Amino acid sequence: MSGHDAPTHLGPRRLRADGVRDLVSETEVRASDLVAPVFVDATTDERRPIPSMPGHERVPVAEAVPRVREVMETGVEAVMLFGIPESKDPEGSRADAEDGVVQRATRAIAAETDAYLVTDLCLCEYTDHGHCGILEADATDDPDLTVRNEATLERYRSVAVSQAAAGADMIAPSGMMDGQVAAIREALDGAGHGDVPVMAYAAKYASAFYGPFRDAADGAPAFGDRRHYQMDPANAREARREVARDAAEGADVLMVKPALPYLDVVADVRREFDRPVAAYNVSGEYAMVHAAAEKGWLDLEAAAHESLLPIKRAGADLIVTYFAEDLADRL
Ligand code: PBG
Repeated sequence: MSGHDAPTHLGPRRLRADGVRDLVSETEVRASDLVAPVFVDATTDERRPIPSMPGHERVPVAEAVPRVREVMETGVEAVMLFGIPESKDPEGSRADAEDGVVQRATRAIAAETDAYLVTDLCLCEYTDHGHCGILEADATDDPDLTVRNEATLERYRSVAVSQAAAGADMIAPSGMMDGQVAAIREALDGAGHGDVPVMAYAAKYASAFYGPFRDAADGAPAFGDRRHYQMDPANAREARREVARDAAEGADVLMVKPALPYLDVVADVRREFDRPVAAYNVSGEYAMVHAAAEKGWLDLEAAAHESLLPIKRAGADLIVTYFAEDLADRL
């Protein structure tokens, strides 16, 4: 044997050498593709770490602007805002209050930063029962009919208008009520916010991967679960129908959530719909990587990057991810 393989044995490896591998790389995660979730908490005066989401905190309203500035210093320019209100009730009445936690934080962030501000629109952080809408009076006894669709849409309209009035750049409804995109679009247009796009959580699954978020936002249902309004993880064709409805109702951006367990759905939405596609790399997807990295079993940054690349490969244009800050510096 001579000291080297015959050249005819070499194929794809020719393009894996330093100097050429970046030239031929197909996808890239850029800081400008990322949206960083931010939690603002009206019940606290100090920043509180979220134990199940290392590196993330709930911050008081007074810290919303500094928190967003921290995100922007990493190169990420878009944030998604979640609020924890000072009190909860069956209608989630703090969700559309002019002095509500998201409204106050939004006004400050819009006035003092250049961040692109997306507000999550849902009631689960604001209702005492933790569901994403208004319940039937006897919902606890009736597992088949928990959330009143039309009554909930009325609340969503009002929340959307109050968020846009406070200065939100984009509204992201995550409650999975039927007709929510049309209702919100109509309300925004009617209130003079025709320039505010809607990013619809279009295919949102009833997922076990939201666990850490529910700690972070105090939004776990007090009874029952969300399977009557969120999608069945077994279904991909149904996602196409859900997304088609949201697109027809005027959604500007179509979101799939979670991301990694549903890459087939991301790829399908990319193929079937000529709209920007977003994927939400959710709290559980983040927590898994962090937990393994803490044990020394994974390299955090490498695994985080490798988690986001397939989301881009599958066809997402933008990614909502708790890794945004971890990664942006090195992209
Ligand atoms: C609210 C909402 C949830 C998430 C985003 N918006 C929780 C849920 O539906 O239970 C989850 C985000 C995450 O896990 O990172 N409806």
